[in-house]
Amino acid sequence: MSEEDIEERRSKEEIERLSVGVEGFDPIIGGGIPRGFFVAVTGEPGTGKTIFSIHFAWRGVLDNDKVIYVTTEESRESIIRQAKMFNMDLEKAIDEEKMIIIDALMRGRADEWSLDEIDVDRLVEKIIEAKKRLGYGRARLVIDSMSAFWLDKPAMARKYSYMVKRILYRWDFTTLMISQYAITTGDAFGFGVEHVADGIIRFRRSVRRGVLKRYVLVEKMRQTAHDTRMYEIDIINGKGMIVIGPVSLRREDVSLPEDVMRRIKDQKKRSEKELP
Ligand SMILES: Nc1ncnc2c1ncn2[C@@H]1O[C@H](COP(=O)(O)OP(=O)(O)O)[C@@H](O)[C@H]1O
Ligand SMILES: [Mg+2]
Repeated sequence: MSEEDIEERRSKEEIERLSVGVEGFDPIIGGGIPRGFFVAVTGEPGTGKTIFSIHFAWRGVLDNDKVIYVTTEESRESIIRQAKMFNMDLEKAIDEEKMIIIDALMRGRADEWSLDEIDVDRLVEKIIEAKKRLGYGRARLVIDSMSAFWLDKPAMARKYSYMVKRILYRWDFTTLMISQYAITTGDAFGFGVEHVADGIIRFRRSVRRGVLKRYVLVEKMRQTAHDTRMYEIDIINGKGMIVIGPVSLRREDVSLPEDVMRRIKDQKKRSEKELP
């Protein structure tokens, strides 16, 4: 076989994709997240980032992947309780050594799988330690969220993200890296994480006719002819997140009122001037 033939065969080879575990989501991204990808998940508070990530983790448990979930904003117990509302038994998965939740909330309570300081190098060490414990094979990782790690060194974020991505790839992780989205300025607190990510999944919310609506938009997914429409989603008690369907919204439906936007912009300009 000539080199061209081999190359052609390789390019036609199916990309291995991991199911996200949210009903209706996989088709949006061509069947799932490509193995080894490092995907940024952003959105304002309450838009469903954590619940989406819990689904991803639970799907991993069902698919016999090694699953590691790092939580910095809620305790391990809170994640377990939230999952239980959707009939996902994370406690059992942990007992059966299919999953490890690394608790980085730092409540002074140190166990083997808690982080005693918010430090990127320590985090990476802990993740690798957890992977070694779970064993060889395809793995899923959620870092929920990464924002806290950058707060004191925003300038380092992109460089560190790149390093983290490279190391995790070597350990066969497919990663969701969650970052907060500042509702006031529309700036991702990801500090450039998006620039190194293989994919970006963006959650948002709006109030329509007095009711909270949630949406998701895949802004980037390398090697994937992903859907470019925004989808309405819902979170249902006893079931979890579901995808309802694509929406055609006017810009006004999802942005803040104009006077609020103007005030925010003014404030931003002012704070930029204050920078050294
Ligand atoms: N059992 C439940 N039934 C229905 N909705 C729920 C349930 N639990 C949580 N939610 C919804 O999910 C929201 C939290 O989503 P979450 O994924 O934690 O948001 P984020 O991580 O983006 O801040 C809650 O504000 C609530 O609206
Ligand atoms: Mg959250």
